[in-house]
Amino acid sequence: MIELIENTENKIKDILKELNIECDSVKVVECNRPELGQYQYNGVMALASKNGYKPQELAQIICEKLQDSEEMKNANVAGVGFINITFSDNSLITQLNNVDAEIEKIAKPKNRKIFIDYGGPNVAKTLHVGHLRSADIGEGLKRLARKLGYEVISDVHFGDWGRQMGMVIAGIEEKMPDLPFFDESFQGEYPTQSPVTSEDLEKIYPEANIKAKEDEEFLNKCRRITYELQNGRRGYLELWKLFVKESMRPVMKTYDFLNVSFDLYEGESTCNDLINPMVKELLDSKVAYESQGATVIDVSEPTDKIDVPPFIVLKSDGAAMYSTTDLATILSRQKRFEPDEYWYVADNRQSLHFMQLFRASKKAKFVKSDTQMYHFAFGTMNGKDGKPFKTRDGGVMSALTLIDNVRAEIKAKMADNGQNSDEICDIISSATLKFADLSNNRETDFIFDIDKFCALEGKTGPYILYTTVRANSILNKANVDNMQVYELVDIDNNSYIDVILNAIKAPVILEKAYEQKALNVICDYLFTLSNSFNNFYSQTKILTEEDEKKKNAYLKLCHIVSKLNTELLDILAIKVPERM
Ligand code: ARG
Repeated sequence: MIELIENTENKIKDILKELNIECDSVKVVECNRPELGQYQYNGVMALASKNGYKPQELAQIICEKLQDSEEMKNANVAGVGFINITFSDNSLITQLNNVDAEIEKIAKPKNRKIFIDYGGPNVAKTLHVGHLRSADIGEGLKRLARKLGYEVISDVHFGDWGRQMGMVIAGIEEKMPDLPFFDESFQGEYPTQSPVTSEDLEKIYPEANIKAKEDEEFLNKCRRITYELQNGRRGYLELWKLFVKESMRPVMKTYDFLNVSFDLYEGESTCNDLINPMVKELLDSKVAYESQGATVIDVSEPTDKIDVPPFIVLKSDGAAMYSTTDLATILSRQKRFEPDEYWYVADNRQSLHFMQLFRASKKAKFVKSDTQMYHFAFGTMNGKDGKPFKTRDGGVMSALTLIDNVRAEIKAKMADNGQNSDEICDIISSATLKFADLSNNRETDFIFDIDKFCALEGKTGPYILYTTVRANSILNKANVDNMQVYELVDIDNNSYIDVILNAIKAPVILEKAYEQKALNVICDYLFTLSNSFNNFYSQTKILTEEDEKKKNAYLKLCHIVSKLNTELLDILAIKVPERM
């Protein structure tokens, strides 16, 4: 909300009332042609004829009355009856002085708990670019919700319990059959070091996967191992613990790079003890039934336009699968946290799964009927050819490869500028990747064009960082110690007013981004604000300004832009480097 706009809307309402014109809502919106005005009221046309006015005539009456207000520099009629509004510089300044208070207002505690599940890396598989998106988007949504006063609990939900685990164990046994983990009669102490590295695991799993497709006996072995692991066979469990930990090492490093962290580092396996009682309860209460050996819940609804198949609680081989652990995990989360909302950030190919899962958990009364459950889906990150990202040799693009590519590009650019700090290179690379990822509409696929996203110009991470660093460097050079005493003043400088006009929108942007769960709204805004700031910077002497009042006002504006940029980047989990 922007108080200045709200006041204007109220004034228009009052004017209409005076004219005996009934109207429920008055909306003043940004002017789509900035050369005509800053804001606009487009409601006159709809009201005029109903009330016996010509639109232009009514618009003229409203403008004249608005013009009386101190907040107005100019209100005039355009075209068939649009009202264009330009606020006085002083009212914009007052509004900007209030921006922190307005942000605080929208950040008031909401007394609402959200549980967010994102990241979702899988044991023994490389992180792919989809996991990167889940991590970036989830982290951003979590921070945004927290900023707006929601209580948020986050969990990474490692993929650590499905059939892949049996495959990995079988795969390790093929290579190292003499390890004590496979010997059922083994009584001694198991090794405490993983017999395989994370790189080994990334080979072992796909190999086992291929073998299981070709060799039925091996497939059955994998099934048996999965079942025995899930039912507590000691050797398998000990081996599993070791390789899960090993597998998570590179993942945690990537999360560090992306500035992503979780309250809970749980996995599909965490709810294992709940599975058997859950299945029994579902069968006893007749929510679930047996169908061809599997345990299923009907989740289709009469109004469905697509075929919604039953939700599979347990397959016929009795092993827990993706859907099983997801359902049991809700039981566990509900028991411990009782969230008002569940958020899942996963790619859009999983939409049907989440639809079934949400319906099943409501039908089973695992959550309250008014608990809100959302799947925040996202599209695919594609290569320049518009097809899902591939490495040069055609393999699936791993997150690490993409990160390395961006890092190399940024490093080369920094070297051109005579810089060579690894730490700063990492901050910029992370920002580049994250901003590229987040600045696109979450739901649509997008092309990752490394040249475009690493550029210092345009809607890119480096551009926003550069702008922020620039503002900070001006402040450093000016040796500002107590910003409190610096004041914005009315200056006849369009580029200065333009920055103010953009800066007052920050609270509205936060609300809009939250409503739409759209981080690209924040990215777009950062770009607009930064653009106007750079324009101001190039047109204005700041440090060499002789008029002390003006100079201080300019410095204050640098401070406000730096602070807003830093705060908004923080929501996107992007850090600002000291220099660039
Ligand atoms: N591990 C899954 C994957 O790689 C994502 C997990 C999403 N979260 C969930 N609770 N199902 O596709």
